[in-house]
Amino acid sequence: MAGSLLHSFATSFSSCSSSSSSRLLLSHSPPSLFLTSFRRSAAVAAPGVRFSRVLSSSSSSSSSSRSPLCYRRGQRRLMAHSIARATLGLTQPNAVDVPKIAFAAKEINAVEWKGDLLAVGVTEKDMAKDESSKFGNSLLKKLDSQLGGLLSEASSEEDFTGKAGQSMVLRLPGLSSKRIGLIGLGQSSSTTFAFRGFGEAFAAAAKSTQANSAAVTLATTDSISNDSKLSTASAIASGTVLGLYEDTRYKSEGKKPVLKSVDFIGLGSGAEIEKKLKYAEDVSTAVIFGKELVNSPANVLTPAVLAEEASKIASTYSDVFTATILDAKKCEELKMGSYLGVAAASANPPHFIHLCYKPSSGPVKTKLALVGKGLTFDSGGYNIKTGAGCSIELMKFDMGGSAAVLGAAKAIGQVKPPGVEVHFIVAACENMISGTGMRPGDVVTASNGKTIEVNNTDAEGRLTLADALVYACNQGVEKIIDLATLTGACVVALGPSIAGVFTPSDDLAKEVFTAAEASGEKLWRMPLEESYWDNMKSGVADMVNTGGRQGGAITAALFLKQFVDEKVQWMHIDMAGPVWNDKKRAATGFGIGTLVEWVLLNSSS
Ligand code: BES
Ligand code: MN
Ligand code: ZN
Repeated sequence: MAGSLLHSFATSFSSCSSSSSSRLLLSHSPPSLFLTSFRRSAAVAAPGVRFSRVLSSSSSSSSSSRSPLCYRRGQRRLMAHSIARATLGLTQPNAVDVPKIAFAAKEINAVEWKGDLLAVGVTEKDMAKDESSKFGNSLLKKLDSQLGGLLSEASSEEDFTGKAGQSMVLRLPGLSSKRIGLIGLGQSSSTTFAFRGFGEAFAAAAKSTQANSAAVTLATTDSISNDSKLSTASAIASGTVLGLYEDTRYKSEGKKPVLKSVDFIGLGSGAEIEKKLKYAEDVSTAVIFGKELVNSPANVLTPAVLAEEASKIASTYSDVFTATILDAKKCEELKMGSYLGVAAASANPPHFIHLCYKPSSGPVKTKLALVGKGLTFDSGGYNIKTGAGCSIELMKFDMGGSAAVLGAAKAIGQVKPPGVEVHFIVAACENMISGTGMRPGDVVTASNGKTIEVNNTDAEGRLTLADALVYACNQGVEKIIDLATLTGACVVALGPSIAGVFTPSDDLAKEVFTAAEASGEKLWRMPLEESYWDNMKSGVADMVNTGGRQGGAITAALFLKQFVDEKVQWMHIDMAGPVWNDKKRAATGFGIGTLVEWVLLNSSS
């Protein structure tokens, strides 16, 4: 095999604790801009050719002459972006820059604000009027008198009552702002979730009126504590960024949003809120990155491309990240038979991704791992997904767990929390069909030595996670969270917008629910009912991989538990429902906000 053009081998196989010599230091590489290098690389990457991946283990910052992310084809050395990729359908994403909005926090009089759109968040209570149709709320009263009573009149005529989701935008003379918008907050609004929705409605109003500059304020701000003002502003900011964003990379023509600046009025000013707004922006950018990973079709986003995106995160934040990408041969050496069984039918080879975050200075107090299911496509294998409702055409989203993990990595690289080491792990592959593929009834052996009778090839996610969890435990971490679009059963149980949480640890559950509250994502704890393990007994192996229809999300979680060290606190999040928004026909970026909050909770910041 040596010297063969088709022979590929692993890049650095190093643990995070090893010397910095194995770090990927790519000072000359461009910042990670998702999937934008394809057009350039198309000329050098011939279809179907696999390049050997070479990494000098002694590479260092002086590696500009021999970049660790160079690929070699015979004697020719090629850059990272020239790896062979699927050319099926000739589709390449367009490079679309995510527009940057300048957020500022100001303590000024909203009535005097100058710009295109002044948006006021109002509750139903704020909209109450007296017998002579005058607002009781002082800000609304001031605005109304400036407008000669037209605000009160228009809101009655348009039946605007402040219900959540309602909005009204008026173009009236008499104000220094070109337009005024009232946006409903419902009866009362105190959750991050509600304020994110408000931010989205504000973004929609700014979009439809083509506003360049906008301001947001709330009709009632005096009753909000200082802490809540910060989290309110940050939730509105993320709602705005995500509401404005539209993924047009695969459309032949894209639209450009025009909103450039947003002023927050009455929610405080100064360093603390500016920092919080920067955090919201960092996380939102990471959520957009995660959405783009999931939205990308499987003929573009192959396991190799996912690994390349992970490597780009490491090279962008090379002060705190190392990347290790293992190819099939290396995974075989690590005895990952369960993961490799799933990958066996695919023409696109598996790539095991391991990013390690370590703060550049100070002691590490806690070690964490985030593990994501990374099926770039799930056909079901021989148990092929057929019939109405199987959603095979949506199974590009089966790497949503890995998108959450890599999105979190991107945000962590930006935020750089102290005192915490984080491992980001994805066993990426496709679940396809071919003569080399796994058959129903085959027995595979995972890297912890346990044997599995594969009674259903469509329960593949847990097979890949088994080896990923064993690998995560070997990193010496104290806590692991895995995220996966694991079961249709979880969607049946909790519907499309709530993820199921499974953990034996009440402490870890507490931490993650605190994080989810701050991020505004919906989680629900489910039971790890040990008696259901009976359904997972095999006649020939240690276990089967599916236990029937009943309690399908629970038996899946019990399966994963077999691969986790008992000393490690572990949580499994089944995000098969919330990964995708059917109405918007787009990915949600679910999980990223919560994971980042959780890592921060475990940091010493
Ligand atoms: N990726 C699917 C789970 C899924 C289904 C996610 C629908 C989102 C929507 C997973 O690999 C799968 O196929 N699970 C099977 C398990 C069964 C064979 C025990 C399922 O849920 O049907
Ligand atoms: Mn499946
Ligand atoms: Zn799957």
